[in-house]
Amino acid sequence: MDNYVIKGHICYSKTSTDLSITENGFAVCENGNCTGVYEKLPESYNPLPCYDYTDKLIIPGLTDLHVHAPQYPFRGLGMDLELIEWLNTHTFIEEAKYDDLEYAKKAYEIFTEDLLHSATTRACVFGTIHTKATILLMEKLENAGMKAYVGKVNMDRNSPGYLCEESAKKSVSDTEKWIKDTKHLKNIKPILTPRFIPSCSDELMEQLALLRRKYRLPVQSHLSENLSEVQWVQNLCPDTRFYGEAYDKYGLFGNECPTIMAHCVHSSKEETDLMKKQNVFIAHCPESNTNLLSGIAPVRTYLDLDMKIGLGSDIAAGSSLSIFRAMTMAIQCSKLRWRLTDQSLTPLNLEEAFYLATKGGGEFFGKAGSFETGYEFDAVVLDDSSIRHPQKLSVRERLERLICLAEDKNIAAKFVNGRKLF
Ligand code: GUN
Ligand code: FE
Repeated sequence: MDNYVIKGHICYSKTSTDLSITENGFAVCENGNCTGVYEKLPESYNPLPCYDYTDKLIIPGLTDLHVHAPQYPFRGLGMDLELIEWLNTHTFIEEAKYDDLEYAKKAYEIFTEDLLHSATTRACVFGTIHTKATILLMEKLENAGMKAYVGKVNMDRNSPGYLCEESAKKSVSDTEKWIKDTKHLKNIKPILTPRFIPSCSDELMEQLALLRRKYRLPVQSHLSENLSEVQWVQNLCPDTRFYGEAYDKYGLFGNECPTIMAHCVHSSKEETDLMKKQNVFIAHCPESNTNLLSGIAPVRTYLDLDMKIGLGSDIAAGSSLSIFRAMTMAIQCSKLRWRLTDQSLTPLNLEEAFYLATKGGGEFFGKAGSFETGYEFDAVVLDDSSIRHPQKLSVRERLERLICLAEDKNIAAKFVNGRKLF
């Protein structure tokens, strides 16, 4: 069904402070794009078929700007360490298993199914260093109907022997082959993924920069997540003034290179200014930052500066794939930050968290994450009828509670770029 109408309580962000709610309204999808939201359907659309979700909530699909698919099997485990110890104790050991395609197949099947049945329609995903397993993941996501950027991870230093590429040259030649081998995919695209500065040599970064230009690829990585990590980068790169400069010196930090940097918890003013200037997207991952004792990112600062920012689950440092959960935690963490460290930064509210999860993160994919005219039609239908209550609630209150409860079982239908997935 190419063109259709969908009826329900249509909720979407126009700006970070303006949440539009059209009660039992109509959204029109034509050729995969939203062409209007109406209180009363214009007569010219009467011939179109209608999905009738009267009294259910319809929101734009959510974007997960930062998730590690191979870490999904150990989510909720080993939450008692800080970043570097956590990587060495739990993460690298799990990721090494993806050399085994049978293991990868099982694990990525589970990840893909759970992501499909979540409210997420778009994601920026880390794989592992393993090319074949990463292609398998991309094919599964494509077959599920999702839209995503997926990265084969690069790491050639400061990593255990069992998860370290043998040289920069080999890492880059594997990456180029992987780019060529994934050309057949339509909705799942490659994204360059140097894990983070400590695990990538200068030579590797130089070569990745060439690949990036040759294939015009976007980039994703980690930035200023943890204080010891920031110090480590300072020691590894004495010629840079701040962490972000270690990416920027290779042209891998925004501008003509669309870039997502996860975390930005401890970014200095200079680093923040450069991200702003070069349109670097920030993936805010509040659950991860809490679990790994990283800190609380100054999201209010980033919003006030009108920076590019969305939310990430950061599985498995974050335990939940739910971007509803990320919205709620973004609000909660901002409150704690206000109370404990900085009362100049007002806490986030529901409108802002909703914006981050939809239009904010969606922007990395172009026009995604809203029902404004011309946006790709990604929609999630929420059925809250199983949540019992004796009092009457407004649609906004129902949305607020659905977000806070973050239960995937309330998702009744999902559309990506106009296509109904379930
Ligand atoms: N920094 C480098 N690798 C990782 C990872 O896998 N997770 C998180 N949260 N931070 C990282
Ligand atoms: Fe991460």
